Amino acid sequence: MCGIVGAVRNSEASGFLLEGLRRLEYRGYDSAGVVVINHAGALERTRTIGKVGELEQALQRSPLTGMTGIAHTRWATHGGVTEPNAHPHICNDTLALVCNGIIENHESLREVQRASGLTFTSETDTEVVVHQVYLHLQEGLDLADAVRATMKELQGSFALAVVHAGEPGRLVVGRQGPPLLLGRTDDETFVASDINALLPVTRSYQVLENGDVADLHDTGCLIRNDRGEIVERPLHTSAQSGDAVELGDYRHFMQKEIHEQPRAVADTLEGRLLGDRVLEDSFGAKAKEIFDATRQVQIIACGTSYHAGLVAQHWLEYVGVPCEVEVASEYRYRRHAPREGTLVVTISQSGETADTLAALEEAVRQGAMGTMVICNVPESSLVRESDLAFMTHCGPEVGVASTKTFVSAMTGLLLLALVLSRRHGFDAGFETHVVRQLRTLPGALESALAMEDAIAEMAQAFGDKAHALFLGRGAHFPIAMEGALKLKEISYIHAEAYPAGELKHGPLALVDEKIPVVAVAPNDLLIEKLKSNLEEVRARGGRLYLFADPASGLVESEDVRILHVAPVDSAIAPIIYSVPLQLLSYHVALIKGTDVDKPRNLAKSVTVE
Ligand code: M6R
Repeated sequence: MCGIVGAVRNSEASGFLLEGLRRLEYRGYDSAGVVVINHAGALERTRTIGKVGELEQALQRSPLTGMTGIAHTRWATHGGVTEPNAHPHICNDTLALVCNGIIENHESLREVQRASGLTFTSETDTEVVVHQVYLHLQEGLDLADAVRATMKELQGSFALAVVHAGEPGRLVVGRQGPPLLLGRTDDETFVASDINALLPVTRSYQVLENGDVADLHDTGCLIRNDRGEIVERPLHTSAQSGDAVELGDYRHFMQKEIHEQPRAVADTLEGRLLGDRVLEDSFGAKAKEIFDATRQVQIIACGTSYHAGLVAQHWLEYVGVPCEVEVASEYRYRRHAPREGTLVVTISQSGETADTLAALEEAVRQGAMGTMVICNVPESSLVRESDLAFMTHCGPEVGVASTKTFVSAMTGLLLLALVLSRRHGFDAGFETHVVRQLRTLPGALESALAMEDAIAEMAQAFGDKAHALFLGRGAHFPIAMEGALKLKEISYIHAEAYPAGELKHGPLALVDEKIPVVAVAPNDLLIEKLKSNLEEVRARGGRLYLFADPASGLVESEDVRILHVAPVDSAIAPIIYSVPLQLLSYHVALIKGTDVDKPRNLAKSVTVE
């Protein structure tokens, strides 16, 4: 989703700006642009639709020269994917601005601005922001004051960066929602939406708080809060590697990340187990105090992370911990009846998902006893805002489709269930048993990955299909949901997931020989129930594609294709069964020739509502 980079340098800025955009590419975008203040004190702008590579080529043809500049990757919200809609937006040839977020009152502001004689060259909500800053400059305000005055008039959630042609060596940025990080060296200052873009120049960074406006010069920067008071924000040092993530021998990052899962899970478990026990310090310094007070768990997340939460609900309730799971975008706007001792657990790969952040804020406002995040990005907003953090330690995930972070988040959630099981008087032998199973996880994941060739062959049956159904029962229903999400997001095949027992209450009407029905069939307590449901599909001419335990008793036939998953204990089975579904969607996407790592319309990090 939109990314911002900016710099006040003592050498040419465009190289850093372009590299910064490249490092924000993973967030998802559809156009990109850059502005610098040239050596004659004029704005020079280049914008392109498509990849940052297009922008790079345009800059090679006509380089931009200047030491102060801003750049942006745009993920369209208001207005189509066109060059005029790409940022930076310019007002009166003197003021340029980039924005990440949404301005809700853009229509009313536009009317007033039109009445003042300003004209528009784009369909975006952002253009009203640059006009509004311009109007305040016309009133005689200084650039930073004009930005602050504008921010007070905007409704919505946004981060912005502004340069003025008449003030080379100055860059003003403001935050009211999506994160903005400042980086400094001795004689240069930088801004970016996340740390990846800053790493080529510095590891030290400050995070602006909501309402902050920062005035960046080559010698440093002055931050004022929403009341106009000068403030200092803590200086952090990033532990992240500055190296760009390499694809190696893989064709796509998604494929690489699927294959990294045994190592990712081993890293998630590293230092978290001692003998047959889970170390509760893994969740943070205040873990004991918060877990002692936990009476129930409320999980909040979006997309794949939400599916991990649904699996965890089975584990938590199994050990006696009441648990609810909610989609963040719904939770944030709902009134909640307070329940004493609620631990709110958010799950997020990026730690920057706008809805999850807002839901966390709402949960705290409504009196959550404690908060915890399961996250893959240590320097993210959710980690900063939560009492406890369990880091998945998977390393960067580049593919938009979450894979390794899904299995690692589930692993972390299983550890949480074990730690809480002790306080709910659950049989201690269970922890011992599950910890032993957890130690087998990397090996079991390797076995699941060994199914790839057979899955690639199975995928052939899906290339010409428009729809697919995914079935599962119990903790494997969320795994079916995740399988359906993976298939639709990277192959654009419409896919829906159902608890298998629910078929006859409606979806069975869809079943015929044209709709493939995928099911996960571990040999658990529900296997006989599932088998009956699968017979209901067969009886209606449905074609079944099954990932099943060899002991499940399922038999292959003309209309039933079965790939066996090596036997696995039911405590960790959902983690293992997610792998064949990832591989299936990946190979279907290869057949369909889609952009696997950057599927259309999607962003890795969803930083707007
Ligand atoms: O970064 P988060 O885990 O908070 O992201 C939430 C969803 O946008 C994300 O899980 C999304 O559904 C997946 N990338 C889809 O594969």
